[in-house]
Amino acid sequence: MDILVIGGGGREHAVIRTLKKSKRCGKIYCLPGNGGIARDAECYPVKATDIEGIVAFARTHKVDFAVVTPDDPLVLGCVDALEAIGVPCFGPRANAAIIEGSKVFSKQLMNKYGIPTAQSRVFTDPAAALAYLKDCDYPAVIKADGLALGKGAVIVDSYAQAERTVREMMVDKIFGESGSRILVEEFLTGPEVSVLSFTDGKIVVPMVSSMDHKRALDGDEGLNTGGMGTVAPNPYYTPEIAARCMEEIFLPTVDAMNKEGRTFRGCLYFGLMLTPKGPKVIEYNCRFGDPETQVVLPLLESDLLEIMIAVRNGELTPDMVRFSSASACCVVLASEGYPKKYQTGYEITLPLTRENEEIFLAGAKAEDGKLLTSGGRVLGAVATGATLKEAVAHAYALAGQIRFGNAYMRKDIGKRALAALGEA
Ligand code: AMP
Ligand code: GLY
Repeated sequence: MDILVIGGGGREHAVIRTLKKSKRCGKIYCLPGNGGIARDAECYPVKATDIEGIVAFARTHKVDFAVVTPDDPLVLGCVDALEAIGVPCFGPRANAAIIEGSKVFSKQLMNKYGIPTAQSRVFTDPAAALAYLKDCDYPAVIKADGLALGKGAVIVDSYAQAERTVREMMVDKIFGESGSRILVEEFLTGPEVSVLSFTDGKIVVPMVSSMDHKRALDGDEGLNTGGMGTVAPNPYYTPEIAARCMEEIFLPTVDAMNKEGRTFRGCLYFGLMLTPKGPKVIEYNCRFGDPETQVVLPLLESDLLEIMIAVRNGELTPDMVRFSSASACCVVLASEGYPKKYQTGYEITLPLTRENEEIFLAGAKAEDGKLLTSGGRVLGAVATGATLKEAVAHAYALAGQIRFGNAYMRKDIGKRALAALGEA
């Protein structure tokens, strides 16, 4: 089967390298891909948001299956458009991708169906939001309704900060129309867990759990980023908690989407917080997480393409999804200055990878046979190991062999997870 993958980050690189292990996998095309992905797939410069361009490409190249991974094409209806010309897809249709596309929608869904989440209020008027924020408890969390490149949630410690955030989102519109509606949410505490799952709208099969490291600096300081590293499994996510999440969150969410006439098929990502009052949903994503995918898929022992086809056809069974009991760690190498200003165009030198190692490229372009940095997050150095300690040490050893100008990485990926295991 010839497969079309939409997107161009480290996540897509991980998806493609995993698909290539499938017996049924033929050619892989990637739109737009990147300089690193081009070593594993044929990349063409069609933007992930150019739905017409993607449809035209799929038609010309007669692809047999498409995998749509990023949030924006999913929310824009890329799957609907491809299915309309007869290309079966892995990924939710637009009416289900709204679970990530609108935080107001997902909050109302959770409230309607009794799925545990932070309490919140919705505002469309800045003055009403500010009146509410005058008397609320701090810290509080302010969230833009729509997609905002992962930067739409702001934790505010005071009214002054809340006022500034409301103005930026609702009046200055720093996230565009995504900020026309906002949520003001109760601040929750507890360890965070990412659980990616496969669902065909009938059953939910969770993948191995993971832990993201969203802040730019060691010790979880600094600005929020797209993710500076991940580990899997997440030691806080015990079998007891997993069983509780299945009953209180995963199945109720899939049922709720069915009842709303918005059957979700694809990868449903649960961003959870394990609060003293039990697990609660912080966010849903309608897709694989980045950089969670980079640690989850290397632990998958079964055939990703078979799973994706079964998800598309509503024929998923739990035995199709098998994970190894090993651990994995991804250390993101970024351009110094990310997520603010940074310079690019530096040559990247990569070591040859050995067994249990992967390098997934994100902000990299190919030029004259060389790989050059072209983005904030440049790549992920990934290793698997029998224990988390081994995986973390191995990922850092791999990262240490990668060279490019202005490279920056966090030095403490996995530290909190190891501490939770008593192995710090
Ligand atoms: P989101 O964009 O909704 O995933 O939020 C980004 C990050 O903000 C999350 O990963 C949490 O660390 C934090 N966050 C979001 N909502 C809350 C909340 N209600 N209480 C505490 N932290 C939160
Ligand atoms: N790593 C968080 C996300 O993919 O949204």
